[in-house]
Amino acid sequence: MGPATQLLEAPEESRQDHHHHRSQWVPRFGASERLLHWWIVTMFGAALLTGLAMGDEAESGPLLRLHVGAVVMIGVGALVALLVGNRRAIVRSAWELLVFDRNDVAWVTGLVRHPLHRRAEPRWGKFNTGQKVLAWSLIGSLAALIWTGVQSRSSGGDAAGPHSAAVVIAVVLLCAHIFMAVVNPSTRPALPGMVFGRVRRTWAERHHGAWLAEVDQVDVDHVDQSHAPVASPPTSSGASGASRYPVARRSR
Ligand code: HEM
Ligand code: HEM
Repeated sequence: MGPATQLLEAPEESRQDHHHHRSQWVPRFGASERLLHWWIVTMFGAALLTGLAMGDEAESGPLLRLHVGAVVMIGVGALVALLVGNRRAIVRSAWELLVFDRNDVAWVTGLVRHPLHRRAEPRWGKFNTGQKVLAWSLIGSLAALIWTGVQSRSSGGDAAGPHSAAVVIAVVLLCAHIFMAVVNPSTRPALPGMVFGRVRRTWAERHHGAWLAEVDQVDVDHVDQSHAPVASPPTSSGASGASRYPVARRSR
């Protein structure tokens, strides 16, 4: 986004902030989730490079060991992240990424019934249907890579065809993912979320509205809780605390 667009966006944001006193950034991924993502990216890249360096020959001993080692390290990284990282955050994000809800079903049904009809986007949760489908496809292609890779290794590289096919599928899926993350103008504002942990509120509102509402709700609950045993009258707390958030409490 160029500076000109940022300038253009500013008035809208300051109008919102005037009411809510909220930051224009919203936290999206914690350190554990981000470290795990980039660890997987690195190890996947290492597997891809060592694989390409081997070519269809499985004889190259050290390269093959590195190749398999990189894939094993994906699993090790996930385990370490779950054991010493923020397990709750990782499990929660994984759950939101892998479980299809009513929104997804309604969206897919609409698409199947009227494929050419442009419809309003639902207020998505943390991830939209496309991201969930891509996540499941990536899991499937990773399973296929491991399955065909193990077979190719036990046959000494004679069963390389299926492994190459799995590589092509995984790379195509990842090209789509990387295109969305760094090129596509409407989705690339998600990138700061995976790098720095936060995204712009205006973008979150447009693309993950239900998720944003949930984040804000947790914020309100948190402030409410930290001010739970109110000993002094609310006037003394001034601009701090729950009064900063004139949002009605909703039950979840
Ligand atoms: C992220 C997972 C993986 C990726 C991206 C990957 C990628 C590749 C690539 C690009 C090649 C070069 C030749 C070809 O295209 O087939 C290759 C070859 C090979 N890979 Fe993998 N691989 C993965 C997992 C595995 C695993 C888990 C094993 C075995 C346990 C394995 C065993 C082999 C073997 C034996 C070869 C050489 C013979 C062949 O091409 O099949 N790979 N891999
Ligand atoms: C240079 C390469 C990559 C970039 C720039 C990138 C960027 C991103 C970004 C920005 C998100 C957050 C999306 C959001 O906030 O909704 C994300 C999510 C994710 N990434 Fe990547 N990624 C890369 C490579 C990979 C690789 C290699 C894998 C797996 C093998 C992967 C798996 C995922 C998954 C499963 C998610 C969860 C949500 C989603 O699919 O959007 N990414 N990535």
